[in-house]
Amino acid sequence: MLEHGGNLGDMVRRLGLPEADWLDLSTGVNPHGWAAPTPPPTSWHRLPDPDDGLCEAAAAYYGTEALLPVPGSQAALAMLPYLRRVGRVAVIAPGYAEHGAAWRRAGHEVVPLSASQLAGGAGTAFDVLVVINPNNPDGSRFTPETLLEWRNGIASRGGWMVVDEAFVDTMPAYSLAPSCPLPGLVVLRSIGKFFGLPGMRAGFALGPTDLLARLEEALGPWAVNGPARWVAQQALRDTAWQAVMRDRLHNEGDRLERLLARHFPQRSSGTPLFRTVLTPRASQIHEALASRAILVRLLDRHDGLRFGLPPDEAGWERLDAALADILETEPARA
Ligand SMILES: Cc1ncc(COP(=O)(O)O)c(C=O)c1O
Repeated sequence: MLEHGGNLGDMVRRLGLPEADWLDLSTGVNPHGWAAPTPPPTSWHRLPDPDDGLCEAAAAYYGTEALLPVPGSQAALAMLPYLRRVGRVAVIAPGYAEHGAAWRRAGHEVVPLSASQLAGGAGTAFDVLVVINPNNPDGSRFTPETLLEWRNGIASRGGWMVVDEAFVDTMPAYSLAPSCPLPGLVVLRSIGKFFGLPGMRAGFALGPTDLLARLEEALGPWAVNGPARWVAQQALRDTAWQAVMRDRLHNEGDRLERLLARHFPQRSSGTPLFRTVLTPRASQIHEALASRAILVRLLDRHDGLRFGLPPDEAGWERLDAALADILETEPARA
C-alpha cells in the first residue's frame, strides 16, 4: 500500500501522544465538512436505488448528466486501467501516486511526466494521459482550453485523457465536467475533499456513456451504499453551503500561504485546501512537528511538506507557534 496523509493512528501508536492532542494537517480534506444529518432508516434497510435522485443532484452540481456514482474516485481510478488494452500511459508526477500504481498493476507502461513537461505538450503522444487538475501536492493546474486541446489529439487516435479533479471544487472554472461527455475524456470527482466527507467513500466518474457502462459493470451492483447516496445527494443540493464554503476556503488558503511565508524562505504552492513547501529539511521539520503532536504530510521524495487547513483558531496558533519554535532558531537552513 502506498503512503498517504491521514495515517494519524500510526503516529499515535509510534509517539504515544494521546489522539485527542493531535492537530492532523496531513490531508487536504476540508476541516469544516458538510454536517451530514442522519440518513433515513430505509437507506439502510433497502438496497440502493439508482433512481433515488442522486444522479439528478450530481448533474446539477457538475453541469452534466454523463456521470456514474462510484465508491470514491479512488475506486474508479483503480478500475479504469483494466478497461482498455495495455498501452503507454503518461501520468503527472509528482502527484497522487495511486494513478501510476493502478496503471502499472494492470500491465501498462507508465511514464511519469512533470507539470512542465506536460505544459510543453509531452503528454499527447501517449495512449492515455492522466492529469490531476489542480495537482496534489503542488497545486499546479492547466486551463480547460489547454486540456481540451490535448484531448482532441489523444482521442483522435483512440486514446483517453483522465482528469482527476478531486481538488477542483474551490475553483470550478478549471473543471472539464461541463464539457462531458466527449470521446476519450474521463473526469473523476471526489466528495471527500471539498465536502469534507472522505469516510463516506463517494465520488463520480464523468465520461462517455459506453465507457461509464463498462466501469459500472466492473464495479458491480450497489457500489455506493444507500446512506452514502442519501448524504451525497443532500450535500450536492446544498448550494448555499457550497457558496459560503468556497469563499471561506479561499480566505483560509490565503491565510495558510501567509503563515507559511512567515516561516519559510521558499514560496508555498497549492490550492485553498492545502499548501506545499519544498525544503531540504522536510524530514526533520516533519519529525519536529510530530513531536509537538502536529501531523503534516511528508512528500514521497522527502523534499517537502504539505499542510492542510487547521480546523480552528487554536490550531492556527499552534501551527504558527510550532513553526516559529522549530525554524526561527535556524531559519537560514530551512
Ligand atoms: C488527487 C486525488 N485524487 C483522488 C483521491 C481519492 O479520493 P476519494 O477516493 O476519496 O475520492 C485522492 C485522495 O487523497 C487524491 O488526493
